[in-house]
Amino acid sequence: MNETVLITGASSGIGLELAKCFAADQANLVLVARNTAAMETLAAELRREHKIEIHVLTADLSRPESPQMIFDELKGRGISVDVLVNNAGFGLHGGFAELPLDRQLEIIQVNVAALVALTGLFLPGMVQRKRGGILNIGSVAGFLPGPNMAVYCATKAFVQSFTEAVAEELINTGVTVTACCPGATDTNFGKIARGQKQRKTNISKMSAEAVAGCAHADFRGGKIVSIPGFGNRLLIFLFRFLPRWIPRKAFKFYNRMNEE
Ligand SMILES: NC(=O)c1ccc[n+]([C@@H]2O[C@H](COP(=O)([O-])OP(=O)(O)OC[C@H]3O[C@@H](n4cnc5c(N)ncnc54)[C@H](OP(=O)(O)O)[C@@H]3O)[C@@H](O)[C@H]2O)c1
Repeated sequence: MNETVLITGASSGIGLELAKCFAADQANLVLVARNTAAMETLAAELRREHKIEIHVLTADLSRPESPQMIFDELKGRGISVDVLVNNAGFGLHGGFAELPLDRQLEIIQVNVAALVALTGLFLPGMVQRKRGGILNIGSVAGFLPGPNMAVYCATKAFVQSFTEAVAEELINTGVTVTACCPGATDTNFGKIARGQKQRKTNISKMSAEAVAGCAHADFRGGKIVSIPGFGNRLLIFLFRFLPRWIPRKAFKFYNRMNEE
């Protein structure tokens, strides 16, 4: 029987590309996000190409009840999830004191609370069946404090710590857990984070396809930490040796340079 892979944030960017990677494995898919039309278009394309079963679930993960609703809906349809990809996420640029508090709490709900809730709902079944896995999309930003993206970076630090800890708990159970930590990637992320304020300088970004390809291969290989791109691997390596104030100041300088 084919495995079933649930991907959150499958309507665009890295999540959409991950859906293509798992479809190429002949996995059946459950796509979750708010943009139903984008997911239906993707589902039609992947069904045609790979003859797989795809379920589209519209859900807003900023609502605390959504993970349980997703779990109950799939249980009702008799679908058990073998692989969970927690990819949905967003960030906001700006000083913590200036950004609306409700939107910042939403970042925590989507990036952290929904990820933990979905993991808590789907992981016990995987452990019982002694197979399956979880792929969480963290970020290079999870390795440093990020002035002017304080909440976002803190959520990704949580994702990193949580994922590595659970992965270690599950060694030799047949279930693997991977944290993928992309750096700047060419998706809608920047537009959503910056709103009307556009970036002043151009930085080199990886394509969503390349990031997803790396995340998928490392997840299949059972890696606990996956860092797409040599530059990102080098950065994370250097963070280990630098005093913490250096990356913190560098992040602040980098954000200021782009905004003034
Ligand atoms: N792009 C980067 O530079 C970068 C770098 C490091 C890590 N990441 C991480 O990569 C992941 C994917 O982001 P991306 O770069 O591919 O950006 P993206 O193109 O904006 O995709 C974000 C996805 O998350 C979904 N999402 C956002 N809020 C949601 C909500 N309330 N409920 C349900 N789904 C929601 C969006 O779907 P709907 O809008 O349809 O709901 C969309 O499918 C995120 O976790 C992000 O933090 C991105």
